[in-house]
Amino acid sequence: MEYRQLGHSGLKVSALSFGAGTFGGGNEFFRAWGDTDVEGAKRLVDICLDEGINLFDTADIYSNGLSEEILGKAVEGKRSQLLISTKATFRMSEGPNNVGSSRHHLVESLEGSLRRLGTDYVDIYHMHGFDATTPVEETLSTLDGFVKSGKVRYIACSNFSGWHLMKSIAASERYGWERYVGHQVYYSLIGREYEWELMPLGLDQKVGALIWSPLGWGRLTGKIRRGQPLPEVSRLHKTSQMGPQTTDEHLYKVVDAIDAIAKETGKSVPQIALNWLLQRPTVSTVIIGARDEEQLKQNLAAEGWNLSAEQVAKLDEASKVARVYPYWHQAQFAERNPLPV
Ligand SMILES: NC(=O)c1ccc[n+]([C@@H]2O[C@H](COP(=O)([O-])OP(=O)(O)OC[C@H]3O[C@@H](n4cnc5c(N)ncnc54)[C@H](OP(=O)(O)O)[C@@H]3O)[C@@H](O)[C@H]2O)c1
Repeated sequence: MEYRQLGHSGLKVSALSFGAGTFGGGNEFFRAWGDTDVEGAKRLVDICLDEGINLFDTADIYSNGLSEEILGKAVEGKRSQLLISTKATFRMSEGPNNVGSSRHHLVESLEGSLRRLGTDYVDIYHMHGFDATTPVEETLSTLDGFVKSGKVRYIACSNFSGWHLMKSIAASERYGWERYVGHQVYYSLIGREYEWELMPLGLDQKVGALIWSPLGWGRLTGKIRRGQPLPEVSRLHKTSQMGPQTTDEHLYKVVDAIDAIAKETGKSVPQIALNWLLQRPTVSTVIIGARDEEQLKQNLAAEGWNLSAEQVAKLDEASKVARVYPYWHQAQFAERNPLPV
């Protein structure tokens, strides 16, 4: 397994990491993803550790805390061998203050995550989304306090716009506080908007990308292609409208290109989609999702080899879409706005 620097930090994360969104199945939405219990989670964690994965990602809202609880039990006795990343910001209960990135909510959220995970520190603590109603200074001074207390080691954000991240970094620098070293972002062969604003920002500011839903919300699995209905078991039956959107035609076009490369390489559709991501700039880690051991083992084999430059170019071509403003305009002046890929 290759280990990569997490942005502007000294932390090395495995190029592939494991996402625990499939643990628990605590409500209808997450049950569609999976319902891995503690025993199943232990087996998946052990397979990951044997293959060199050192980072396990979860969030307080995944199955309303159950994912954190199951991950905590699955790593009992192994805590020092691995890194845990979790997230706060979104609502877990009723009440005007039980949401957002205020000091009030973050202090309670972190204590809840530590309790459920059965640990006294979180390696990477993410703001799951931007809270535009809380001053960034309040959020960042709170996070800085968490790092000073030893309860959090590194801070990161997720699903931020360019200006959210840049404003936050500027505040951290101004006051000498901890800064976001990672950005957990959606990026896949059927969703490349990350490249327009956030990737150039990540390069400029040394913010490492932790990629979520690398198979496009469970679509680039090899089980969906032109003229082939959704398989019986798929999270998409219940959740296709809730995550990143794409058109069937675009998905089929990308899958056709992946299928052609699968014939050349003998690799599977998910392995090719994941390997393409591993070769993109700023990517510190690709968070793989797996409902079971078979999916996990297949995805782990996406690392340790490389698509050729020609194959990458074919995938780039098949997956490109029209840019929205101002990115199409900036692309016309690439001499001074070099494209990151
Ligand atoms: N920060 C955020 O806002 C955010 C949002 C979403 C996710 N995440 C993180 O990212 C992690 C991964 O996200 P994701 O699960 O959406 O990733 P994904 O890679 O897009 O989808 C994974 C799903 O694809 C199917 N699959 C995976 N490997 C397969 C294989 N080899 N063969 C056939 N089918 C396969 C499985 O679903 P089926 O069995 O249903 O087909 C699996 O649950 C999450 O666990 C979480 O940690 C973060």
